Amino acid sequence: MSKKLETKLVTAGRNKKWTHGVVNPPVQRASTVVFNTVAEKNAATIKRQGHTLFYGRRGTETHFSFQEAMVDVEGGAGCALYPCGAAAITNTILAFVEHGDHILMVDTCYEPTRDFCNIILKKMGIETTYYDPMIGEGIRELIRPNTKILFTESPGSYTMEVQDIPTLSKIAHEQDIIVMIDNTWGAGVNFSPFEFGVDISIQAATKYIVGHSDVMLGTSVANEKYWPQLREQSYLMGQCISPDDAYTGLRGLRTLGVRLKQHDTNALAVAKWLEQRPEVDHIRHPAFETCPGHEFYKRDFTGGNGLFSFVLKTSNKEATTALLDTVEHFSMGYSWGGFESLILANEPSTFDTMRTVANPHFTGTLVRVHIGLENVEDLIEDLARGLEAYNAVLNR
Ligand SMILES: Cc1ncc(COP(=O)(O)O)c(C=O)c1O
Repeated sequence: MSKKLETKLVTAGRNKKWTHGVVNPPVQRASTVVFNTVAEKNAATIKRQGHTLFYGRRGTETHFSFQEAMVDVEGGAGCALYPCGAAAITNTILAFVEHGDHILMVDTCYEPTRDFCNIILKKMGIETTYYDPMIGEGIRELIRPNTKILFTESPGSYTMEVQDIPTLSKIAHEQDIIVMIDNTWGAGVNFSPFEFGVDISIQAATKYIVGHSDVMLGTSVANEKYWPQLREQSYLMGQCISPDDAYTGLRGLRTLGVRLKQHDTNALAVAKWLEQRPEVDHIRHPAFETCPGHEFYKRDFTGGNGLFSFVLKTSNKEATTALLDTVEHFSMGYSWGGFESLILANEPSTFDTMRTVANPHFTGTLVRVHIGLENVEDLIEDLARGLEAYNAVLNR
């Protein structure tokens, strides 16, 4: 029977085995699972691959339901759960590398991912080469005999470059290199990683899956080839989450589609308004031609969300402060994907440390906004007030 995305989001993981006939699975809390016979105990112990109750750390029915739901929605063969997106990224990488390996990391990765490579992987004798998100075929030249992982994040953090994932995956697979993506922006619904050759898709479910800014959660969905290793290594690293958080992730999935559509509509309206403003140099939203990789967005994505950036013509810290302090519907906060609007600013010098090979060398301030579910006219009016305050400082 046909199951399009919206239907999948409603039905995913609602196996009667986990829901016991009600709509949502009960929150099953457990450390100890008890067995009455040796045969039952032995069967549960060896069934590491199946969703069998064995020990709280290996998950309960609430976890199994969420794990199955993630696979239903994103594709792949299995989903490992982590206490946050950063843990999902680091543990997924760690599951596949050893001393002497080399990884290729996109230069526009989430900053803590870079820190993990520079500090933890380096300490373990694993070398990282950063590559330009727009490198395409050029990735070939960076591959070494010991390259294990090609890590992508599309669009990139802050600067929003969209990567040519099919080309990168094809080249990586010629050398049996594992392709990973930080798919948090795509949220598992606007970009289908496995259709474009990705092997493992990681999400900070903290963002849109949870969607209400109140839970930390990470997911890593792997294909058939890599799921057994990811599952085993994550288990050995003691990675697990509370059943309440699994429940919240599952509940978030139900409204993910409609929330994303509204975030997208609101964000496009705000971005179009900003594009006309004299203070704005250009828009960094994948749906705009001024965003690097816009052509890949049009080809590979089915929609957007609330997160994008715009670059101002000037860099003036005092004026930027006036903008940030004046807006009322936009608060400053790092973790996006909730229902509320957010704003952050980066002066051009920030990219001197955040980038090694793809510094955009902006002359003006980059402002990243997360457009929430408020009324879009209120948001635009608020930004107009903010820009007035910005101009007042500039024209002083
Ligand atoms: C693209 C991206 N990946 C990963 C993370 C990390 O997620 P978490 O905060 O759940 O550790 C973030 C958080 O901001 C992010 O923006």
